[in-house]
Amino acid sequence: MIETRRIDNISLVGFMGTGKTSVGHHLAAMLRFRFLDTDELIERRAGKRISTIFSEDGEPAFRKLEAEVVEELGSWKHTIISTGGGLVTHSDNMPRLKTRSLVVCLWASPNVIWKRVRLQSNRPLLNTPDPLARITELLAEREPFYRQSDILMNTEVRSVKQMAHQVALQFRMIQSKQPNREGEDSQTSD
Ligand code: S3P
Repeated sequence: MIETRRIDNISLVGFMGTGKTSVGHHLAAMLRFRFLDTDELIERRAGKRISTIFSEDGEPAFRKLEAEVVEELGSWKHTIISTGGGLVTHSDNMPRLKTRSLVVCLWASPNVIWKRVRLQSNRPLLNTPDPLARITELLAEREPFYRQSDILMNTEVRSVKQMAHQVALQFRMIQSKQPNREGEDSQTSD
């Protein structure tokens, strides 16, 4: 139940190439919120690229770093959190995101995702002979997790700007129904 939660932030989840970063930046500007990308934070902390973390330490080590970041988000306010595409597959992460965020999943079909990411080389999970098959398989595996979001938005039929407006509208509506919590403690830095 959204009404019984304290919603201070917006978390964007969804597969690679669904536009979380672009929509997130737009939303942050519209709402005057800060923007946080879990991948960027992990790279800064680890001092290496995600692809290097995958190749040197392995995917489980990366997932552990993701879970640590999510655990810290509990006391944040006024933040748009853009998450890595596989972050929600760790069973603790979705409930943790939901404690303070409206969780919005951006969705697209495997073919559209492939068209969007095929010229990019920074996705270690797609370094395979048949990336489209891998996308199809991973998306099917992850769908149950993505479906636990508060809002599921098809990105194929809307521009980035339209999606940001739509999410901002929903967020403001939900916030207007929440009890006034002025004066409560908050943390807005990392
Ligand atoms: C991943 C998605 C990437 C990044 C890492 C793993 C995934 O983030 O976290 O390469 O498991 O889908 P984006 O969704 O921002 O590309």
